[in-house]
Amino acid sequence: MKHDLLLVNPPITLEERYGSFASVGSQAPPLGLCYLASSARKQGYSVKIIDAPALSLDLASTLTQIAQAGADAIGITASTVSLNRALELAKANVVIWGIDNSKYMLAVAKQKLRKEDTAVRGRVTLRLGDMRDFRLRETFPLVYIASSTFEHCVTEEDQWKCLKSVHGALKDGGVLAFDISQSDHDEESSWWIDRRELGEKEVVRTIFSKRNPATGVVSVNLFFDVYRRGVLKERYHEFGEAKLSTKESIERILRSVGFTVQKVYGDFDKSAYSGQSKRVIFICNKQ
Ligand SMILES: C[S@@+](CC[C@H](N)C(=O)[O-])C[C@H]1O[C@@H](n2cnc3c(N)ncnc32)[C@H](O)[C@@H]1O
Repeated sequence: MKHDLLLVNPPITLEERYGSFASVGSQAPPLGLCYLASSARKQGYSVKIIDAPALSLDLASTLTQIAQAGADAIGITASTVSLNRALELAKANVVIWGIDNSKYMLAVAKQKLRKEDTAVRGRVTLRLGDMRDFRLRETFPLVYIASSTFEHCVTEEDQWKCLKSVHGALKDGGVLAFDISQSDHDEESSWWIDRRELGEKEVVRTIFSKRNPATGVVSVNLFFDVYRRGVLKERYHEFGEAKLSTKESIERILRSVGFTVQKVYGDFDKSAYSGQSKRVIFICNKQ
């Protein structure tokens, strides 16, 4: 039987999970997946769970079972201990299209992709495009706007256009997930410095940010100083803008575009949103 949704608890041994305590470790039911399955079933979807540790499946047999299930959408548990396994499963099955309006960022992504095997590379398509105005020949069950990228839509019109483009790229009932950050201080400007060692290089990053209280737009200037053995060798400057928005204003635009907001989280650990949350994570459905 073909299912709408397949939820997978990745294969992981007691040794991997509990280390030297493996002999006293036990398998726990994947309660989170059970909650998700029960909720999706109540909405009328057919759901299957593959609990690989309970079934003593290894990676290869889990992949076989996933392929046999032929589900429209697959969700994989990615807890700290099982993250690498979850990635292996995801890499083996998911078709991904990514867009970015920076050819430099796309070049970085392509460089990383070159390290993957041919099968993985064949499932990834990267396109130069503007999230506020794109049309792809495919439609997708899931669109994910990662890492607060939505904040680069700095006017309500841009936000609307971006959500409208995403709406067009989704299959009916498809899911949009994205995050925005919430400002926890009222300061109009701030600056900070951090440093990172990259092989022989040391990169010192100085960041200045200034918020326009009238528009909620934060302007960010980033200066990168690259040192080699303590000597300054290169210096770069980047400028970017991000809009701080309230949960309510985004929900209003989502509804006007034709999305139903299914869930709003306060962080990636799925904690409930509250006025004190540092992030807002929206999970929405195309109506
Ligand atoms: C916060 S970074 C996220 C980078 C990367 N996706 C990640 O998750 O690590 C924001 C990205 O959005 C891209 N971006 C900014 N405005 C955009 C637009 N209008 N259309 C498409 N991409 C945009 C930037 O080039 C940058 O790569």
